[in-house]
Amino acid sequence: MARLLVVSFTPKGPLSRTRRLLDAWLASRRAADPALTVDEVDLINTELPLVDGPVALAKGSVAAGSQLTPTQQRAWDAVTPWAREFLAADEVVIAAPMWNFSLPYPVKHYLDVVVQPGLLFRYTAQGPHGLCGGKPLTLVTTRGSAYADLPQVNFQTSYLRWLCEFIDCRYSEVVAEGLDARGPQAGEKILTEVIDRL
Ligand SMILES: Cc1cc2nc3c(=O)[nH]c(=O)nc-3n(C[C@H](O)[C@H](O)[C@H](O)COP(=O)(O)O)c2cc1C
Repeated sequence: MARLLVVSFTPKGPLSRTRRLLDAWLASRRAADPALTVDEVDLINTELPLVDGPVALAKGSVAAGSQLTPTQQRAWDAVTPWAREFLAADEVVIAAPMWNFSLPYPVKHYLDVVVQPGLLFRYTAQGPHGLCGGKPLTLVTTRGSAYADLPQVNFQTSYLRWLCEFIDCRYSEVVAEGLDARGPQAGEKILTEVIDRL
């Protein structure tokens, strides 16, 4: 039974086009695999631990293999369950719109919480080594503009693709883009066509 972890940030709720795309994608996945289990970290309704000084110091201590102070240990114990949940999934989906050419800040916060040494990666004499075993990570996103001719400013894709290299996930994306650039009717047509192709 495959376990899918959805990490979502769709603050417009039922009006979110990213949520519509995610729901359609999940429906097609469930149709193909009725035994699929889906857990969701809904970043609208989730309070993540702060990634503050003690977390950063704990991260350094773990990476260096040194003893954590009690303060660092408390901070480490707050972030590791999130990383373990990420690791336990067979597949991860990140669903969020493009904001300012990248991922919205709650998604970055989530990634800063879960990408931890000894869990999602480790340092070796040969350099960093990803520990996610090549599991699939899919970005489900919608964008106001289209970036096929401007890949250098699509930091969403370049950032997540490189992060996946680092932690050893297999990156792919489901995208409906150009939804705002030519008005709502043209945007609706593009989104519907992407959903119909799923
Ligand atoms: C704060 C904010 C920043 C945005 N920045 C971008 C951007 O940099 N590039 C882009 O193509 N669209 C941008 N958009 C447009 C959204 O990506 C687009 O409307 C998307 O479909 C919204 O998804 P949603 O309906 O799920 O919220 C931005 C929208 C908001 C609210």
